[in-house]
Amino acid sequence: MTQNAFPRLESGIPGLDEMIQGGFPFPSVVLVAGSAGAGKTTFAQKFLFEGAEKGEQGLYISTLSEPAQWMLRYVQQFEFAKQEFYGKEVVYYDMGTALRNSTGEQLLQMIDDKVAEIMPQRIVIDPITVVGTMMKDDYRVFAFDLVTRLKNWQAVTLLTGEVRPGELYPAEISYAVDGVVLLMLSDEGDARRKYIEVLKMRGTNHITGKQSVDITTKDGVVVLKARF
Ligand SMILES: Nc1ncnc2c1ncn2[C@@H]1O[C@H](COP(=O)(O)OP(=O)(O)OP(=O)(O)O)[C@@H](O)[C@H]1O
Ligand SMILES: [Mg+2]
Repeated sequence: MTQNAFPRLESGIPGLDEMIQGGFPFPSVVLVAGSAGAGKTTFAQKFLFEGAEKGEQGLYISTLSEPAQWMLRYVQQFEFAKQEFYGKEVVYYDMGTALRNSTGEQLLQMIDDKVAEIMPQRIVIDPITVVGTMMKDDYRVFAFDLVTRLKNWQAVTLLTGEVRPGELYPAEISYAVDGVVLLMLSDEGDARRKYIEVLKMRGTNHITGKQSVDITTKDGVVVLKARF
């Protein structure tokens, strides 16, 4: 972590920290929102493995009923995902089943309990928008309570959110978080082109506008020098 007036936690995403004055404000809750398949999970995994390299503790909470094995198989293709960190510096926790059988208050308690057990500096909840689909009207209040609780921990939390076609960003949660980073596929013809855009970052004089990104087997999501 960089020590200055406003402590920063390096994102681990090559090229991003230069855009946000050295990293995410610590502590904070940041929404990584984007199109399906734009690289949100890859971004979040690199964030955790970057911490692991520095001896920091990470917690990955999945809201899909995906076995940890399934996620591991995906992330293993990336060079940054060193096997030795699994289950130690990077802990996986599947909340998918609980999500179907619990109240919002119970879910908040489960997350708090897990964070208290692991004491991570880096937390990921991927994807948070699935909770919205299940909770419907209660989601706005849940999202606000979740973000409030997460801000009390000495950690940076990344929430990932899907931006549906025609949407600009997931509105129900964006207002509550400290930062919003968009990761989008081009909607003009060539859908393989991707860009990143920092919409907001509390206490940070961040770069505005769209910046091109690529996904590589070595580093995952990489911000390119080129404007999108
Ligand atoms: N080794 C790789 N090299 C280059 N690109 C890759 C590689 N692996 C995956 N990708 C790209 O990353 C995309 C998936 O990334 P990821 O799962 O992180 O996206 P996501 O935003 O989390 O998707 P979802 O909306 O399904 O959760 C793939 O669609 C593919 O374009
Ligand atoms: Mg994903």
